[in-house]
Amino acid sequence: MQRSQRIMGLTGGGSDGWDVFLKARRMLAQGVAVTELTIGEHDIRTAAPILQNMHENALAGHTGYAAVPGTDGLRDTVAARVQARTGVPTTRDNVMITPGGQAALFAAHMATCDAGDRALYIDPYYATYPGTLRGAGAIPQAIHTHAEDAFQPRVDDIRAQAPGARSLLVNTPNNPTGVVYSDATLAGIADVCHDHDLWLISDEVYDTQIWEGRHLSPRALPGMADRTLVVGSMSKSHAMTGSRCGWIVGPEAVVGDLITLATHTTYGVPGFIQDASEFALQQGPAFETEIAAPFQRRRALAQTVLAAQNTVGLVPAQGAMYLMLDIRATGMTGEAFANDLLDTHHIAVMPGESFGASAAGHVRVAMTVEDNAFEHALRQLCAHADLRA
Ligand SMILES: Cc1ncc(COP(=O)(O)O)c(C=O)c1O
Repeated sequence: MQRSQRIMGLTGGGSDGWDVFLKARRMLAQGVAVTELTIGEHDIRTAAPILQNMHENALAGHTGYAAVPGTDGLRDTVAARVQARTGVPTTRDNVMITPGGQAALFAAHMATCDAGDRALYIDPYYATYPGTLRGAGAIPQAIHTHAEDAFQPRVDDIRAQAPGARSLLVNTPNNPTGVVYSDATLAGIADVCHDHDLWLISDEVYDTQIWEGRHLSPRALPGMADRTLVVGSMSKSHAMTGSRCGWIVGPEAVVGDLITLATHTTYGVPGFIQDASEFALQQGPAFETEIAAPFQRRRALAQTVLAAQNTVGLVPAQGAMYLMLDIRATGMTGEAFANDLLDTHHIAVMPGESFGASAAGHVRVAMTVEDNAFEHALRQLCAHADLRA
């Protein structure tokens, strides 16, 4: 039977860059002690009080169909949080709860792009972006950034691609580079969106992981609330990756459309998960800082380790749980280096190429193992690069 072009073409063909990750998983399954620095998952689990709350709400009967747009309680809590953090008036009517940020990314593009529309995104990018845009029927178009700018986007490059496009997807703090867009970059992006009538889809799932500078949500810039959809999630800020709870914040009319979409696709998020997410958000910023703290600590460790050698470059990162390392001095591709490192030292990192052509010759390191093991792995990585250079 013939399968749809839509599903067959989703990943765009070729290697999807996850070979090293899959190889590491196979080695782990065979009992090899691999230091896993590939995916963006905390080394802690969801906090016990959140799970307790989930359990109590499930036992109390919140296990039937939940309201499709999300519970009033969680929508109100997300709206209040967004308003407090950005100053933009936000009510539950601006909020749609989704099964994680990934579903929000897909829904946001479904709501803004028609089949065949050009949807812009910034390279390097979170690995699912092009497939998500294709899944929504759009034609993904990458805008390249440069290692010498620490992957801060150039507004002129975005402007050059904007004519005729429908949307622009940005992600700050950024996966995979850790770059936090400057106020000037975001102001420039807002100008381009106004000038070319673009929707801005702002993926802010790392907004609690800022090590330097500040997080500015572009929805807060003049005139942008009408054309911005913000993607948020409990995954990274509250160590709730497996709970699959996220949201879109945007104009009321779009939220109405998203509710229609959810009615015909996901039919919402389990009520007890939403209750626990509401409880987690109510723990406030101190709890979010506690969840983010290990990554900030490990970033400082990495700065010390990398400062003591000259082969591997550390791309300056102001946020998120990753580091981009420049291994071009070895003359190897990111993919070759990552494979070599895994085979030789049983350390798994992601090839930069998995996140787009702009990150060629780099590897992404997730700061997701405990401090000593992390520091040891980084020292080994640097020594290995030195040997290969
Ligand atoms: C930039 C970015 N956006 C969105 C997501 C999706 O996260 P989730 O679906 O768990 O909320 C991730 C996950 O790693 C990510 O890195």
